[in-house]
Amino acid sequence: MTARIIDGRKIAQQIKDEVRLGVEKLRATAGIQPGLATVLVGDHPASQVYIRMKARACEEIGIRSTTILIEKNSSTEEVLRQIEQLNRDDQTDGILVQLPLPSHIDEGLLLQAVDPQKDVDGFHPVSLGNLLAGRECFVPCTPAGIMEILKKEGIPLKGKRAVMLGRSNIVGKPTAILLMHQHATVTICHSRTENLPRVTSEGDILVVAIGRPAMVTEEFVKPGAVVIDVGVNRLSDLAEIKRIFGDDPLRLAEHQKKGYTLVGDVHQARVQEVASALTPVPGGVGPMTIAMLLKNTLIAARRRRGDG
Ligand code: GUN
Repeated sequence: MTARIIDGRKIAQQIKDEVRLGVEKLRATAGIQPGLATVLVGDHPASQVYIRMKARACEEIGIRSTTILIEKNSSTEEVLRQIEQLNRDDQTDGILVQLPLPSHIDEGLLLQAVDPQKDVDGFHPVSLGNLLAGRECFVPCTPAGIMEILKKEGIPLKGKRAVMLGRSNIVGKPTAILLMHQHATVTICHSRTENLPRVTSEGDILVVAIGRPAMVTEEFVKPGAVVIDVGVNRLSDLAEIKRIFGDDPLRLAEHQKKGYTLVGDVHQARVQEVASALTPVPGGVGPMTIAMLLKNTLIAARRRRGDG
């Protein structure tokens, strides 16, 4: 079997087109332009890239975007003050605190400080509680993107076995809950699970967010399964690249050009032989995360004005 490669960029573009129409309508009917504020503490290289991508996507579809850059050594209190200011700012509909934060910062305190009405990332405990209870809420963007892919691809979930590999607050836990709400039978497993391949190969749907480059190979996958790869890893060690990918010319060329190769948590070339469909890296879940952030920001702008 050779798996169908799911085009996340195409699905994300559909979502962005819908959001753009919504943004135009809000502007025409209420004179409102939705605004997203992103808080970045420090200079984490991947975060800087994400922040730029988010700002560009906002610009493309007519959302006002502001980036608040905060010095790496700032205290939790200093960041809190910025968040409180954004909570009060009427032009700001959505607030996103980019993770990971420097280790001396209290992440829990910051995420709790975001006004739940502006919590477009869905990381506030109120949002997470509502998600667990199946009530309306801002759904975290990556899990929302995963569910949208499964829906748009027509992948049946009801009664199916879904396995979530990874248990983070950002991806693993919320995705498992969303899959369960769609009537899948869900297993959450992680790096300490004994005999992982036995567990993951029970999944008709396997979602992988474990943060280990190309860890998931064919023995982790049930033949015919749908595999969703959330991993984004930059591999720069040439010996490691060769160990995982042999002399794959595309990998070697990417490394030569950029100094690294971008790798998911799934070994695409090997899993492609057993899965029925999979999301590539890049071009799978990543673009969906940004599209869902834009969608949440539009929803926040409407809700704050009592319109939807
Ligand atoms: N870091 C990695 N993914 C995310 C995300 O979805 N939101 C935020 N705020 N930070 C992240």
